[in-house]
Amino acid sequence: KTLKIGLIPGDGIGHEVIPAGRKILESLPAEDGLKFEFVHADAGFDHFKQTGVALPQETIDLLKRECQGALFGAVSSPTTKVAGYSSPIVALRKQLKLYANVRPIKSVLPSDKLTDMVIVRENTEDLYVKEEKTYEVDGERVAEAIKRISESATKNIANMAFRIALQRYNSRLADPESTHLKGKSIVTVTHKSNVLSQTDGLFREVVRSEFDRQSSDFHSKVELKEQIVDSMVYKMFRNSSEFDVVVAPNLYGDILSDGAAALVGSLGVVHSANVGDSFVVGEPTHGSAPDIAGQGKANPVATIRSAALMLEFLGYPKPAARIYKAVNEGLLAGVVTPDLGGNYSTTDVVNDIVSRL
Ligand code: NAI
Ligand code: MG
Repeated sequence: KTLKIGLIPGDGIGHEVIPAGRKILESLPAEDGLKFEFVHADAGFDHFKQTGVALPQETIDLLKRECQGALFGAVSSPTTKVAGYSSPIVALRKQLKLYANVRPIKSVLPSDKLTDMVIVRENTEDLYVKEEKTYEVDGERVAEAIKRISESATKNIANMAFRIALQRYNSRLADPESTHLKGKSIVTVTHKSNVLSQTDGLFREVVRSEFDRQSSDFHSKVELKEQIVDSMVYKMFRNSSEFDVVVAPNLYGDILSDGAAALVGSLGVVHSANVGDSFVVGEPTHGSAPDIAGQGKANPVATIRSAALMLEFLGYPKPAARIYKAVNEGLLAGVVTPDLGGNYSTTDVVNDIVSRL
């Protein structure tokens, strides 16, 4: 089977880590039966500076028409508003209806906190609808933003979290040694409905009622818990090993998932996927890292794991597992970039993983 994958390096170290992801996919052994065709697509701040467009229509059309999935590197975003520029990844999520952002965080190194969790973040609404305004009242400026939660988007994200929980239950039955988690999968819905009783209240209510609608077989395998988001942060850092699948509205999910990266050493190892019903985009969690760009120091692991996660969502768990295993072996052997205390280059790490594959 040949998969056509769009490659969108973006800016900065995106140009170093995306070729790394490509190389790993190309190096999968023939027995996996997968072949790849790669197509380059533009997006990002550099592209905006050259052309005035951050996410060209050709990129969207190419992905939609020709590709099964894509890998997105990172884009630089100016901290002050630049006329005409808005983040291409946010636009891409919207255009391709990638309603879920899935971010697994699993400890590998002895220095990591014992963790095996997946944060499933709603990717289309909440405060990120970006409907903001500023006005004047009694001589001072007041700014406001809309926080939108809909039943349909919440149902989608709840069911994504439930599917992942069920799949994790089955895979740990098959391989109990692969994780410290035991027994039923636990989905934790996080919110602040004690204060925001309508918006977060709706999120909580819809996740609960979607859970109740599942079969008794499902209920024998997956349990639902809830945790207010502020104490969630506390618990996650105190005892991350308690958590399994966490489902969250967009903003809380964004904050929780970047925070959770601190449990496992470096932003350079944390991967994610933006998932919809018909498309998936693998994406490292980190940004374009201008401080190390062009120096061969970028950790390619986050992107390589993102490529594996993309394969999982495209229905190829076996080659994905093979990639995770090779990556973990390399980490444990100490073949790591400077962000993890090593002195190997991006290319060294890629070649090491290729040889383990
Ligand atoms: P960043 O993630 O780019 O870098 C934070 C720190 O982590 C830096 O010291 C960097 O060198 C290090 N780092 C990140 N990824 C690494 C890797 N793979 N290997 C080794 N070290 C790594 O975040 P920062 O500095 O806040 O943002 C830089 C630019 O990236 C900004 O323009 C920002 O807007 C953009 N950004 C883009 C994201 C995206 O495209 N999804 C996400 C976050 C930031
Ligand atoms: Mg973030």
